[in-house]
Amino acid sequence: MQITWGASTSSYQIEGAWNQDGKGPSIWDAYCREEGNILHGDNGDVACDHYNRYAEDVGLMKDIGLQSYRFSISWPRVIPKGTGTINDKGLEFYDKLVDTLLAQEIDPLITLFHWDYPLALIHRGGWLNPDSPKWYADYVSVVVERLSDRVTNWITFNEPQVFINEGHLNDFHAPGLQLSLSDTLRAGHHVLLAHGLGCQAIRAHSKQVARIGWAPAGKTWAPASDQPEDIEAAHEMTFGVPNKDLFNDPWWSDPVVLGHYPEAGIQRYGNAMIDFNPEDMKTICQPLDFFAINLYFCESMAKASPTGPETIQYDGNIPRTMMDWPITPEVLYWSTKWNYERYKLPMIISENGLACMDWVQADGAVHDTQRIDFYASYLKELKRAKDEGVDITGYYAWSLMDNFEWSQGYRQRFGLIHVDMDTGKRTLKDSAKWYRNLIATQGAEL
Ligand code: FCB
Repeated sequence: MQITWGASTSSYQIEGAWNQDGKGPSIWDAYCREEGNILHGDNGDVACDHYNRYAEDVGLMKDIGLQSYRFSISWPRVIPKGTGTINDKGLEFYDKLVDTLLAQEIDPLITLFHWDYPLALIHRGGWLNPDSPKWYADYVSVVVERLSDRVTNWITFNEPQVFINEGHLNDFHAPGLQLSLSDTLRAGHHVLLAHGLGCQAIRAHSKQVARIGWAPAGKTWAPASDQPEDIEAAHEMTFGVPNKDLFNDPWWSDPVVLGHYPEAGIQRYGNAMIDFNPEDMKTICQPLDFFAINLYFCESMAKASPTGPETIQYDGNIPRTMMDWPITPEVLYWSTKWNYERYKLPMIISENGLACMDWVQADGAVHDTQRIDFYASYLKELKRAKDEGVDITGYYAWSLMDNFEWSQGYRQRFGLIHVDMDTGKRTLKDSAKWYRNLIATQGAEL
């Protein structure tokens, strides 16, 4: 399969160095300090200490044979208060990281926002502030100005569904707000505007022709059978707005790619729906070069019924990961196929993987056979989509290394590389060696 093979991480989850070299506090620094928010009271203060060990980590990427590495920039590391003074030391870190990657011929794919928002901006209203899209665009300009002589691939936002829905409507992620549905929709609208202004800022400041995408979370229903009516039912659920929250796909990607909110959402949100200037949609809907998507599992199954699509939950005995997520390889087939049909953009899988019960065994290795089986079965479904004509250009395993898994702390290990969180020692898992072979043979075994 001729695609770009990579692995993903994000700044708060791996960098540590939470207050080193002038970095400002992020909302996750604050959220982790509040008792009860994170399993075992964990935090990202040190995490994988990637900030200080990046050279070793790039060496491991080279060893695995990664062709590309997706990482995110910590906004408060670059602009400690979110707006205003720039922390040159922070930019220097990303400079060195990019240079080290390029020296090893690993292409950087930069996510400009993967949830670690400057705490100072929350004190100014965060995403509810009408100026917030501009704050984001100014930050993006600073980063692009500095790195775009060497970096061409940019993702504006990671999973807006998650940080807006889980962090603003539900108190499950930072900043831990519990806004009304209407205010959450307003915050979301500002994120969409930020995406649009961010795209404009990238194009205006890039020193080379930039390639821009965004990376929503894909929420997918699988057809309960291969009957056309069940496939249609699953498609309808996937692009519907079934719940009164913002955890769905079309609310976010329809404005970004098609230039309007989905009617199903406007109906569902009813009185909570916000007023906005129709001109905003022109800003939000910018030309994109690719559509990235994070895919882990199918939500449930759907089948047709006389009253519309019916949801069928997976059985209790379906194989599950440590996160309790059902193992459903077909998510890579249906989601890429349907999103390609709907949005007509080249597709990148920007995250896919699982948490397993991994440890360094007596022989010094990590024999994570379940992870190998997971990747092999998921990638076969990706190949099926590609063989049927879906334009898939890249695949990024989540994650390069074990890291801080948000509210789950260090309990969940998603890495191809095992990290001993006490000593920082890295060990390539068997899956990393398997991935190395897969990359070297361009997925011949699939
Ligand atoms: C995604 C996030 C990523 C990681 C994986 C497991 O929702 O984008 O940071 O936590 O889940």
